[in-house]
Formats: sequence, C-alpha cells, structure tokens
Amino acid sequence: MKDCRRRFSIGQGQHPAAGLVVFAATCVAATAIAVEGGNDAELLQEARRHFPPLPKDATTAEFPTTPERIRLGRMLFFDPRISADGTASCVRCHLPGLYATDGLPRSVGALGRVLPRNAPTVFYSALHATQHWDGEFATVEDQAKHGLVGMGLANRDYASAMARLKAIPGYRAVFRQAFPGEADPINEVNWSKAIGAFERTLVTPSRFDDYLAGKPDALSEAEREGLRTFVETGCVECHNGRGVGGGGFRKFGVFSDYREATGSRNSDKGRFALTKNPDDVDSFKVPGLRDVAMTPPYFHDGSVADLPKAVAIMAKIQLDADLSEAQVASIVVFLKSLTGPLPEGFERAPILPVGGFATTPPDPRR
Ligand code: HEC
Ligand code: HEC
Repeated sequence: MKDCRRRFSIGQGQHPAAGLVVFAATCVAATAIAVEGGNDAELLQEARRHFPPLPKDATTAEFPTTPERIRLGRMLFFDPRISADGTASCVRCHLPGLYATDGLPRSVGALGRVLPRNAPTVFYSALHATQHWDGEFATVEDQAKHGLVGMGLANRDYASAMARLKAIPGYRAVFRQAFPGEADPINEVNWSKAIGAFERTLVTPSRFDDYLAGKPDALSEAEREGLRTFVETGCVECHNGRGVGGGGFRKFGVFSDYREATGSRNSDKGRFALTKNPDDVDSFKVPGLRDVAMTPPYFHDGSVADLPKAVAIMAKIQLDADLSEAQVASIVVFLKSLTGPLPEGFERAPILPVGGFATTPPDPRR
C-alpha cells in the first residue's frame, strides 16, 4: 500500500472519485498525475464538485430558527449560571475572539475539570452530519442537551440544571416568547432547541463562497494555487462538502499511528469507544476546515499548535505524501481564505436577566 498515493488531477475531464476507483482497482505505484497549470475555469468547476454552496440558512421544520428562539439561545449560550458552580457557559470554551474555540489543547470545564478533547469551533457545526470528534451526537440540539450534564457544565441532572434557570425570574418571559403556548417552557428540550437555533445562525461566509458562486477573482492567484494543491494532494477525499469537512469519519493515521506524528500521549481511540467496532479504532470526525486558520491548536487532542505542521502531518499520515514546504505553505494560503467575518453580533455579550444564586452558593463538589 505504501506507494498507492491518491493524486487527483484537474482539467483532464476526470472526476477525482472516478480516478480513485481506478486507482484502488489497479493500485499502480505512485500514480501521481501532476497537472501543469490547469486553467482557472476548470479549477472552479472542480471546486464546485467538491464544495456545494452554503444553504441560505440552517433552519429546518423540526428546528426552526425563529428570532425569539435565537434571542433566548444567545442569552443561554453566554450564561454561566447554568453550570454546576456558576462558572462555565458555552462561551467559556467557544469564545468569540477565538472563533468559537478556547485556544487550549483541552478545555477546562466547571469545577475545574479538564475535558478529554480539544474544543472545536461551533461555527458551521449545525451543517455537520454529526457533533463531537467521535460523532456522538447527531444535531446541535442533541449536543446542547447532553452538554448540560456533561463535563463542561457538570450538572448532576436535568432537573437541577433547570432549577438554576427557574431561579432567574427574567427567563420566564423569554422562554414563553420563544415557546408560546407551552405551560412549562423552561425544560432541557427547549433549552437545547433555543441554543440550537442560535447555533444554526453561526456561519462565517468568506471569499471562498464568492469564488464558488462563480467569481474566480474572489480568491487571489496564490489562494487558487493553494486550492489546486489541496485538491491534487487528495485532501478533498475527506475534507469536502459545504463545511470543507464535517461529513463523515475517517481513521486519523491511515498510513501510520497518529501519536507518532503528533507526539500525542493519549489513548483516545475515537469512535471505537462508542461502537466497539475494531474498524473504528482511531476513527474521528473529519473536521470542517472553515475558519481553521483561526482555531489552533489542532486535532482532537490539540496536540499541534501550528497550521503548516498540521497540514504536513495530514499529508503524511492520511495520504502518505511528503509535501514540500512550498506546497504546505500554498495549502495554508488557501485555508486562510476560508476565514470569514464573525457572525453578526457574536462578539457582543447579551445582557442577561438578573438573579441567580440568592441563598447558598453552589456546592463546589456538585
Ligand atoms: C468546558 C468547555 C466547554 C463548554 C463549557 C462547552 N463546550 Fe462545546 N465543546 C467543548 C469540547 C471539548 C468539545 C469537543 C467534545 C468531544 O468531541 O468530545 C465541544 C464540542 C461542541 C460542539 C460540537 C462541534 C463539532 O463540530 O463537533 C458543539 C456544537 C458545542 N460544543 C456547543 C456547545 C454549547 C452549545 C455549549 C453550552 C451549552 C458548550 N458547547 C459548552 C468544550 C466546551
Ligand atoms: C483520509 C481522510 C483525510 C485526508 C485525506 C485528509 N484529512 Fe485532514 N483530517 C482528517 C481527520 C479524520 C481529521 C481529525 C483528526 C483528529 O482526530 O484530530 C483531520 C484533521 C485535519 C486538520 C485539523 C483541523 C482541526 O480543526 O483541528 C487539518 C488542518 C486538516 N485535517 C487538513 C488536511 C489537509 C490540508 C489535507 C491534505 C494534505 C488533509 N487534511 C487530508 C481526515 C483527512
């Protein structure tokens, strides 16, 4: 398998997936079909095949993004009083200034607990097929609900979490507006629907989207060259779709153990812990690469701080390709073009209803 490289060509009328099938069937050693200077129209066409346009919004019949739900969700996202010790809100680990990450290899939650994995951005996560590095949760709503009793917020159970919210009188009206006609709207399902509605608005369209919409000049020549390198190296085999990833699971370390390449000292086997299927050992969600230049450190364990290094590791252990420094730099230039402006207003904290722990402070052990 060592020489079985996946190299895609652009501008030869061949779909990469088709090339891959031929390649897999014949397994010709080193089938690198380097394409000299394919033209820009073909590159754009190729890019559109891998990256469909963003939807107008991420609202669904089941999870409507009404203004009232978004408003409530935004408040809840910023409110630490929901956590076991009153110190952790979503924004603690998904900070606006760090593109909804926390800059730490591994996050620190309520009660000072260190979480097992790195905090991914929540931008575009509503468009991902699953949530978390191992895809444990299907939707952002599902993720938020379980988050209430997970390590980040560390509540004992849903009832005690909701009691914290109910102790803040101002929330009653905001929940009623978001979920009209419900007798007791403050519950964990509505909490997660409101946060989910807010998260569904958290997207950061960039010049790359203008490019995909048919404006080749929206990307500089260097960025287009980087896109070409990204495609031809084979990164698109996994990082494709609207999120430039986020669609499925792949082994981290196809050609060699990721721990050797990253220097990680961890035993995280990804999806295997959930499925117990030996095929899932070291299998992780292919992360979306939108805004990736803004969200170090990288990988599920935050083991690599430097984007060029992360790119070189990817090429090596996912594709068995040794990229030159120039090729790595070129891909990084492209990846930077995936950074868009913050979602409108995300950097401004909402004013929260007053109230909270009026009697005893929360027990620090729970
Ligand atoms: C203590 C830090 C911390 C807090 C607090 C926290 N998160 Fe996270 N978040 C993480 C970490 C770490 C992960 C990755 C977990 C994993 O994959 O095992 C994550 C994953 C996610 C994801 C999945 C993203 C993806 O692309 O897979 C979403 C969505 C998310 N968090 C939203 C929230 C919301 C909403 C809240 C508040 C209710 C919240 N987070 C609170 C650290 C935190
Ligand atoms: C075979 C599938 C596959 C291929 C090919 C692949 N990747 Fe990845 N990529 C992944 C997976 C899976 C992860 C998550 C690894 C982990 O668990 O931390 C990842 C993670 C990353 C990250 C870290 C993102 C973050 O937020 O931490 C970057 C950057 C990245 N890939 C870029 C690339 C580039 C550039 C290429 C081409 C040189 C590439 N990848 C090729 C599957 C792939």
